[in-house]
This record gives sequence, C-alpha cells and structure tokens, in this order.
Amino acid sequence: SANVARRSDGVLTVAGMPVTELATRFGTPSYLLDEDDFRARARGFKSAFDDAFAGLCGGVDVYYAGKAFLSTQVARWVADEGLRLDTCSGGELAVAQRAGIPGELIGLHGNNKSTAEIRQAIEYGVGRIIVDSLDEIERISKVAVELGTVAPVLLRVTVGVEAHTHDYIATAHEDQKFGLSLTSGQAAEAARRVLDQPSLRLLGLHSHIGSQIFDMSGFEVAASRILGLRADLQAEFGVERAPLEELDLGGGFGISYTSQDDPQSPEDMATTLASVIARVCESLNMVPPRISIEPGRAIAGPSMFTLYRVGTIKDVETGHGYRRYVSVDGGMSDNVRAALYSADYSCTVASRAPAGHPVLSRVVGKHCESGDIVVRDEYLPSDLAEGDLVAVPGTGAYCRSLASNYNHVPRPGVVAVRDGAARLIMRRETIDDLLAFDLDDDGGQAG
Ligand code: LLP
Repeated sequence: SANVARRSDGVLTVAGMPVTELATRFGTPSYLLDEDDFRARARGFKSAFDDAFAGLCGGVDVYYAGKAFLSTQVARWVADEGLRLDTCSGGELAVAQRAGIPGELIGLHGNNKSTAEIRQAIEYGVGRIIVDSLDEIERISKVAVELGTVAPVLLRVTVGVEAHTHDYIATAHEDQKFGLSLTSGQAAEAARRVLDQPSLRLLGLHSHIGSQIFDMSGFEVAASRILGLRADLQAEFGVERAPLEELDLGGGFGISYTSQDDPQSPEDMATTLASVIARVCESLNMVPPRISIEPGRAIAGPSMFTLYRVGTIKDVETGHGYRRYVSVDGGMSDNVRAALYSADYSCTVASRAPAGHPVLSRVVGKHCESGDIVVRDEYLPSDLAEGDLVAVPGTGAYCRSLASNYNHVPRPGVVAVRDGAARLIMRRETIDDLLAFDLDDDGGQAG
C-alpha cells in the first residue's frame, strides 16, 4: 500500500511528505497517490505472473484496466513498468493516445462500442478489440473493410461463473449484459462469424468474472470452461484455422479495504492459476495459449488515499445510545462506493496523534443524501474537531474514475508523491469549470 507513516508529532506522511503540508498546498479533499507504490504493484503483478507462467506459455501480458483510475501520466507509468493498457471507451483510449502508448499495447473493451470508437481504435492500431456481442462483429468488420485493414479481436465469453462479490460488479453469470454466452452456443457462433470475416483476425478468447474477488475458485472454473471452448473450436475448425493463441482471464483481483479483507499475493494467485491452466491444457491435450490478465483495482487501489478535512460533528440519538456523525468536505461525489455497493472503508486522523478515547463514528460527506457515507463505522478519537484531517486509504480504484459533480461539487485533484516531492497529475475542478458547462441565455459568453 501507499507508504504512509506517522511522524513523531502524529502527522501522517506519504512517501515522506507530511499530509498537513499537502493539504495546505493542494487543498482538501485531495486524492494522494504514492507513485512508487503504484509502479511497484504494477511491476509486481507483471513479474509474479511472468514467473508463474514462464514454463507454460513464456509469460503473461498484463493489461492495466484504466477504468480503475486513468490519467496521462498513469498510462505512462504503466507502460514504463512493462504493462499494457486496457481501455473501455473512446475517452480512455484518447488518454492512452495522448500518453503516446503504442497501439499494439492497447485493448478496447465495451458492450456498446460506437462505430466512432471502433474507428478510433482501428485507426490507432490497437492490439485487440474485445468483441462483446454478435452485433459488434458486423460493426467492427465494416470499419476494418472501410479502412482497408484486418482488425485483431478477442471474444468475451460469459462462462456462467457466479463470482462471490456484489451483484452489480459480478459479470460472468448468465443474466447480465456482458459477453457472449458459452452455454447457449453464442460464443461458438461468434467464433464462426469472426472466422468467416477476412477483415477480422481471431486472436483468442476472453473472460472476466467480476471484481473484488478473493476466492480463486471462480477463476479456476472460468479458465477450465473457456479452455474447453477453445478445445471445441479447435476441433471444429482445426488448430491451423483457429489457433486462438490468447486467453485473457480479465481482472477482478481483490484488495484489502478493511482488516476483514484478506487478499492473496499476486504470486499465490499466479501460481494457482498457472497450475490449473497447466492441468486443464494437459487433460485436453492442448498447447497452452498465451495468457493475459487485466487487473485494475489491485494495482491502483492501495496506492492512493483521500485526505479530507473535518467539518461538522454531530451526536445523533439512535434509540439505544447515540452515533457520532463526522462530516468531511467531500463524500459520495469523490467516493460513491459506500453508497453504490455498501463498500467498507476505514480511516484515521491524519493531522495529529489521536488522543482522547475512541468513539465509534460514521464519516459522512457534505451531499444532500443520507446514503452519503464515506466510512460506515470507525473508531475516531473523542477529541476529534473541526479542522482535523482524516485519511481514507484504498481509494485509488473506482473513486476518482467514478467521481461526479453531484450538488455542483467540483471533483478533487490527484496529487502524486514521489521522492519527497509532490505534483498534481490531475487538477482540482473549480466552480468556474462547472459554470462553463452551463450555457447561459447568451450562450455562456457573458462575463
Ligand atoms: N477487465 C474487464 C473486462 C472489466 O470489466 C474490469 C472491471 C476489469 C478488467 C478490472 O477489474 P478490477 O481488476 O479492477 O477488479 N466500479 C466497481 C468495479 C467495476 C469493475 C468493472 N470492470 C467498484 O467500484 O467496485
């Protein structure tokens, strides 16, 4: 996780920088990102999977899932560390392009890619487009023909695994919008159609079973089912015509948000997966495919925390005592995960040593919604007061990227800290930014 320590006076530091100083310089709330930690985790995934799969398929391509958190500089760090980049919209792809990431290192996802997005991807020469529906096959091949090229594609297969995670983030069971279902024969039909299109090249198969997963058995079942499909397709078309060299297992590796979470190391996950894939390939008498994965949260999540300033503190009668509500200067607009998924976070006082006795508190935001919770339950010092800083760790994934302007609250900036120096990699929005979207009678030209 981010290199956070407490100085002798109680002030938290991140990568050597005191948060009090960062708060003065950049304001609150701010997302504070430990760049070395982010890079180390990216590198760690790559080397753990490379090592585990070296004997099986020579290594693994790790695509960082940009939806977790993406900025131009982050895209460059990822490429620096030997990873590739997974995008899922024209906007994310534009960031990758601006960062100068070579097309062949980029994948494009999406269950409803527009023709414009497909064209953008093919023109830029992305290494793979992940096909999510039968409809899309037509759409992609049309653009490829128009541009006089052959588009490399993977098929996203829904393998029917129920990942043990929140319903909204589990994506491989049958009744949801993603992918081509295995059991109905849709995936096989898609393979047939792609193989029939001279403007498409079928690289292989893809499966993503969900997010924030700790139990590797879901991945194991998914891998063996999708290898079974690969065997069937190779039997139908011949290995020559359908080599299906690549198999992507998606992302979803869980991280620790509270002490209840117990994630495995990338090494352990990689070893488990490599042995399952080796075993299944052997039983199917098949040459193992090249494996790729798409971790987002597991790379970005732990490297960031959000720094808030405490405002109103209120003790509310609950009928069997009272609950302390600690309001901070952000909330569901910078971290919607508690409201959206009942996600649990923890927090700590960041601007001084905790004193007094611990009081069970609920940290809430400033938005006009009672579900605007940042940290549901945390013991905070009884003498916590307005002006104190509070740090919420583990906010690197799906916080800035899911941020909104609810209540016309500007989204916070992202501060990267490295070697005792801090710089903004994403600036804070201003009220003027928000007003600029709002077209006045005269077309917003006044003033
Ligand atoms: N690959 C595909 C095709 C995906 O759909 C996703 C995430 C990933 C990779 C990366 O998954 P990760 O390693 O980050 O778990 N907003 C939700 C998570 C949505 C995940 C969407 N897909 C949350 O905040 O928990």
